[in-house]
Amino acid sequence: MDKIAVLDFGGQYAHLIANRVRRMGVYSEILDGTAPAQKLKDYMGIILSGGPASVNAPESPKADAGIYELGVPVLGICYGHQMTAYALGGEVEPGVMSEYGPAVVKFQQKKGIFEGLENEEKVWMSHFDQVVKVPEGFEIVGGTEDCPIAAMADYKRNFYSMQFHPEVTHTPCGKQIFENFIALTGAKREWNLDQYVEKMMEEIKMKVGGKKVFLMISGGVDSTVAFLLLEKVLGSDRVYGLFVDTGFMRMNERKEVEEALKSVGIGNLHVYDASEEYFAALKEIYEPEKKRQIIGDLFLDIQEKVSERLGLNPDEWFLGQGTIYPDTIETGGTRHADVIKTHHNQVERIKKLDEAGKVIEPLKQLYKDEVRLVGERLGLPEHLVWRHPFPGPGLAVRCLCAKGLDNIESKESLEAEMQQIADRFGMKIKVLPIKSVGVQGDERTYRHPALVYGKPLSWDDLDTLSSRLTNQFKGVNRVVYGLSPDAFDSFVVDPSDLSRERISTIQQADMIVMNYLAEAKINREIWQFPTVLLPLKVNNQSGESLVLRPVCSEEAMTANFYRMDFEKLNELIKRLIGLKGISAVFYDVTNKPPGTIEWE
Ligand code: XMP
Repeated sequence: MDKIAVLDFGGQYAHLIANRVRRMGVYSEILDGTAPAQKLKDYMGIILSGGPASVNAPESPKADAGIYELGVPVLGICYGHQMTAYALGGEVEPGVMSEYGPAVVKFQQKKGIFEGLENEEKVWMSHFDQVVKVPEGFEIVGGTEDCPIAAMADYKRNFYSMQFHPEVTHTPCGKQIFENFIALTGAKREWNLDQYVEKMMEEIKMKVGGKKVFLMISGGVDSTVAFLLLEKVLGSDRVYGLFVDTGFMRMNERKEVEEALKSVGIGNLHVYDASEEYFAALKEIYEPEKKRQIIGDLFLDIQEKVSERLGLNPDEWFLGQGTIYPDTIETGGTRHADVIKTHHNQVERIKKLDEAGKVIEPLKQLYKDEVRLVGERLGLPEHLVWRHPFPGPGLAVRCLCAKGLDNIESKESLEAEMQQIADRFGMKIKVLPIKSVGVQGDERTYRHPALVYGKPLSWDDLDTLSSRLTNQFKGVNRVVYGLSPDAFDSFVVDPSDLSRERISTIQQADMIVMNYLAEAKINREIWQFPTVLLPLKVNNQSGESLVLRPVCSEEAMTANFYRMDFEKLNELIKRLIGLKGISAVFYDVTNKPPGTIEWE
């Protein structure tokens, strides 16, 4: 089968590139970024991924220069764009401004893989460094306001590269760029998802042999599809599910999940209430990564405990999980990738068990949108296939904890500088004394959110303001819009951990939001809607703050904040502000990157 290679430099989207190529029918494989050119001789084209490093750093991963001698088309993306410049005699430097999220490229030329594009195209960016001089034989193809060499080409040798990410859905012209690249390579389109599922089923059969699978199941689409797939291959007596109620689920969720699983014929299910264990283990834990590690480890402890109680012989049973690819990549699952956040199903102990061949994760190579397609093929009802994603650690990662007020470096000067930008939009600005997780230039960040407030502003303006702030100021990775109260004069952060009381507050807020989405009939246009509780008391009020974080996405690797109709939003705020324990409501206006979807 004809194939295209993706060289992985640790970019968050390296796997997504291969996924895009495969979706277009061409088989694609991922190799380490430093793979020798010798190993790449059988590929019809080579794509260099993004990555968190800087090409100028001596220790950063470098492509074998021999790949440019193989005579096949080469496409460099982000770090791969910079790698191409570096390898062939161009120059790369840190940009004056970083770019995260949306930007507009003006194309001066539209030939080769840029054929068919408009003069101006919306693209998605995530970078600090940029190419400042193209190598000999290359021409500048297009640029943005902050990145003049956003695309370059050597048409003779069929080398193309770009600073933006054509592989994410937020770069609408990306599909055309890949179509053109594939056409240039001449690779035949011989690959499809059905074939892949067949292959996956064969692999399950081979791996499991005569053994059985004890699968961690949450009621979400990933683990449900994994269960049904395993059951289809192994038969219902060889797959058993464990549903752990961590105490961080949505209100009434345990009952609903049990019913939903029963309705699709999943009867082999053991339910375990672990809320006591979880609240005890997370007492006085404030750091997001620490929380995530404890949560992941405890899932495993409980699985072992229940296995023992049920008398299951560990030599006869595999541990099954509904892991999908973003869980792996965000946990730093490839050689050059940064840990963005530890997903509950990818803690070190699981990785060790996996290395020992004791774990089965049939969906590990897929993205949410593909899992949904597999779910549809397996006959899963629509409401389960399209359920909003919910993270394994549940509300625990939406209930922010703090030891106290977090000091902001050079607060006064930072706020004064940011105010100059906010002034252009007639807004006031503050930096919030808590932190959240983000992903910028393929790196994890843990920084402060900026708060803008003061008057009604259009979503377009909020989007522009948000990108300007996160691109320009290293101290912030997220921007929220203050909805209620009207002014934010002072902030207090009391020591707060994961208490039952706080989880109950967020459960109630989440239920109000979820019910309202259904009532207002907007739950299908929103991909996911986390409601986040901040231990932030505003204007000497006793209640804490809520953040609304609705996003649009396809596979969670990139996302836009959702632009809710303002009338609907006002109605929702009214309902939330009446909730005991809540005195302020914010709306997250950050895309991914620079912010992740969840706050921790
Ligand atoms: P972020 O916050 O990284 O989230 O943009 C991307 C998607 O992953 C979900 N998420 C998780 N899912 N275990 C999961 O099963 C986890 O530990 C976890 N953390 C985040 C998140 O809800 C979003 O859909």
